[in-house]
Amino acid sequence: MMESIIRPLKLDHDLDESHQVFVSGFHHVFYPIMDEAKPALCRDMVKICARIGNRSFVAEAEGRVVGILLGAAAPPWKKLRAGLSEAVFGFGPRAFWNRYQMSAFAKKHLRRVLIGYSPHVYKHPPSWPWAEIIVFAVHRDFRGRGLGRKLMDAFLDEVRKKGIKKATVSTDTELDWKFYPAYGFKRIVTFPLKAYTLILPGKYAEGYIYAIDISTAPKPTGGQIL
Ligand SMILES: CC(C)(COP(=O)(O)OP(=O)(O)OC[C@H]1O[C@@H](n2cnc3c(N)ncnc32)[C@H](O)[C@@H]1OP(=O)(O)O)[C@@H](O)C(=O)NCCC(=O)NCCS
Repeated sequence: MMESIIRPLKLDHDLDESHQVFVSGFHHVFYPIMDEAKPALCRDMVKICARIGNRSFVAEAEGRVVGILLGAAAPPWKKLRAGLSEAVFGFGPRAFWNRYQMSAFAKKHLRRVLIGYSPHVYKHPPSWPWAEIIVFAVHRDFRGRGLGRKLMDAFLDEVRKKGIKKATVSTDTELDWKFYPAYGFKRIVTFPLKAYTLILPGKYAEGYIYAIDISTAPKPTGGQIL
């Protein structure tokens, strides 16, 4: 059996390896902004998500980070504001002035994704205190070995400890959304997703929001959690 450790993310220390996991998880839907822009673009996306989140975990195996779950569980307003400011006043202008050296295709795709993902925000049922899985991925070489489940266990345990009743996640048909019903999440929102029209022309994609009732969520399955 593979030895693994689940531990809290240390952003400065884990950024490079977390970025690699992010690329491995989402290259098929983000490849223009990964292959035709400076790597700083996706690194900054990971940083912003980790800054908005206050309960983020990594899975380590074979001495490196191979899984990430960047999550928020009632993040303090100050933290939320700092992450959002970085997105609006840092990332936004850098992308606008093309500091990431995106190709024309990458720029179009980024714009399409930002607009196309907006239903995930405005169709999101309001819930406070807010608990959200923001980014969730396991490196492709390590999938199907229970690491995703252990990361989710660790995150939901924190949500439970904070007395929050429900956690939500946005996903879509081009991602590995089936993890969520397998884990115990229920689908609460479905909508047509237009984020991938450039990279998947003519293909119909659907966006989903899933929620889990913490009282019925599985308790941690064990494994080494630090
Ligand atoms: C989703 C993801 C993080 C799951 O990680 P993982 O380590 O492979 O998941 P696990 O091995 O812990 O699987 C847990 C359960 O989910 C199920 N599952 C995981 N991925 C699945 C898939 N693609 N289709 C169907 N079921 C899946 C497993 O069968 C398993 O069920 P079981 O425990 O009842 O046997 C991983 O597939 C991934 O990184 N995908 C790419 C990025 C992505 O799509 N992220 C999620 C969407 S936002």
